[in-house]
Amino acid sequence: MKMPYKLLVMGASSSRTSINRTLAIWAAEQIDAQMETVDLNDFEMPIYSEDRQAESGIPQLARDFKEKINACDGIVISFAEHNGSYTAAFKNIIDWVSVVEKDLWSNKPMLLMATSPGARGGRTLLESAVTDFPRRGGHVCAHFLLPSFYKNFKEGVHEHSLKKAFDLAALAFERGMGGSPI
Ligand SMILES: Cc1cc2nc3c(=O)[nH]c(=O)nc-3n(C[C@H](O)[C@H](O)[C@H](O)COP(=O)(O)O)c2cc1C
Repeated sequence: MKMPYKLLVMGASSSRTSINRTLAIWAAEQIDAQMETVDLNDFEMPIYSEDRQAESGIPQLARDFKEKINACDGIVISFAEHNGSYTAAFKNIIDWVSVVEKDLWSNKPMLLMATSPGARGGRTLLESAVTDFPRRGGHVCAHFLLPSFYKNFKEGVHEHSLKKAFDLAALAFERGMGGSPI
């Protein structure tokens, strides 16, 4: 019997009450897999600069994060959008990890999501990530946007058409990892 897939799961936010973390964990629970959740606060590093890298090298935390990417079968990320872009916490981590090895996401299958309290749900950022991640070694299998989090999420995505869209995205992600592992 094959082992269940191992997912690396994160909300791309440093908020202790992150709704994106909630969504990412719920999404991973819908998939037949083991999960390792990552808290971005555990990977806080100095703000990336080429000068700092030349002077002090790459922090061990960036190498640790990269090891987690390399060790998993698939990655689930839900993005918090700050002013139309990544949170500073997430961007700093990926800047550091991107100088550890060339392909940041190690060609791992990915399910990318975003949510926010607002009606756009982080759409600007999600569209940008879906376009950009494949250029950085991300095998983006599926994406899902959840607008108006507090209206549409209660112990899970409950609005019918959104739940249907999520189920299709989850299926595409599982197929991207090679189908059901059992
Ligand atoms: C500095 C800042 C910028 C924000 N910019 C956006 C934005 O561009 N788009 C959006 O939908 N929400 C924005 N928000 C609201 C966030 O979506 C909201 O705080 C959400 O809870 C963030 O997700 P999280 O709980 O996973 O951190 C912003 C919030 C802050 C504090």
